[in-house]
Amino acid sequence: MSDSALSLREFTRQLPKAELHVHIEGTLEPELIFKLAQRNQITLPYPDQASLHAAYQFDNLQSFLDLYYAGAGVLITEQDFFDMTWAYFLRAKADGIIHTEIMFDPQTHTARGVSIETVFAGIAGAARQAKAELGISSYLIMSFLRHLSEAEAFATLDAALPLRERYADLWIAIGLDSSELGNPPEKFQAVYARCRELGFRLVAHAGEEGPASYVRDALQLLKVERIDHGVRSEDDPALMQYLIDHSIPLTVCPLSNIKLKVFDSLDDHNLKNLLDRGLNVCINSDDPAYFGGYLLDNYMQTAQALNLTASHLRILAANSLRSSFLPEQYQQAWLQALDNVPAHD
Ligand code: HPA
Ligand code: ZN
Repeated sequence: MSDSALSLREFTRQLPKAELHVHIEGTLEPELIFKLAQRNQITLPYPDQASLHAAYQFDNLQSFLDLYYAGAGVLITEQDFFDMTWAYFLRAKADGIIHTEIMFDPQTHTARGVSIETVFAGIAGAARQAKAELGISSYLIMSFLRHLSEAEAFATLDAALPLRERYADLWIAIGLDSSELGNPPEKFQAVYARCRELGFRLVAHAGEEGPASYVRDALQLLKVERIDHGVRSEDDPALMQYLIDHSIPLTVCPLSNIKLKVFDSLDDHNLKNLLDRGLNVCINSDDPAYFGGYLLDNYMQTAQALNLTASHLRILAANSLRSSFLPEQYQQAWLQALDNVPAHD
């Protein structure tokens, strides 16, 4: 790496950044998968970490999800969920993340007999420790698996609601993830309406593999405030204008999009085009243990492939802060801190 590339990385690291699209189960590194498998006496279908890692070659979203759910099978105890989440916070700290909104999928765990209390307790324990010891704030986005039924989403909501008060400082939002094609937003219209009545903030994955119409439907039918991915919006000019006019945040995940073949290569990614057209896009890592990079690597590899300047990087970081669910006064304070980061030449 040249000196100037190094200093652009350091500049970007110093920018206060929020990560708004990360699945905590997608931060489970092969090393920790093996450690937890041993701790819980689970036999993995791979002899070692290297052969598990070598299997991380995906053709599409589903081929990734199959491995991601299998990997999550080593998570049994509260300590396991804590250890996974704490490991993410240490990496977040190293990358200059000051706030994160973490998605988690209770259904992946309750289907295996792990209680929803265990899932919440482990993740929330690490999030509270991260605030106290690392100065990183967070919110939790409980996400429904869209390949399951809406009735199952309602059952998950009902199981989680008794925990709401205990985790009121963290659990403020609802998300929708897993297999997008064939599972359109309208499938979850009633449960989103209920979550809205309950006062949750709403996000959903849309327009990753699915069409631009899913982005429109997530906004209009589910009434989400933020779209996870949304890169396929480009196919619909009227939708693009709507996203610009309403400054709807798109939490874009460049390395994920390449690994899952949403774009052929980073050079072909539409992030710079979306940014230059005035869309409110920010960069996120999605499932960094599987896609080859945490947040700062996503920023830097994208910057290199698309010739992003320091001012693009500053805008992307500012967008992440403004698109977060942090109260306005915290956003303003972090935006001020961002302005105070010395310019990169
Ligand atoms: N898309 C949909 N579901 C997911 C993803 C994703 O990128 N990562 C984890 N669950
Ligand atoms: Zn995602």
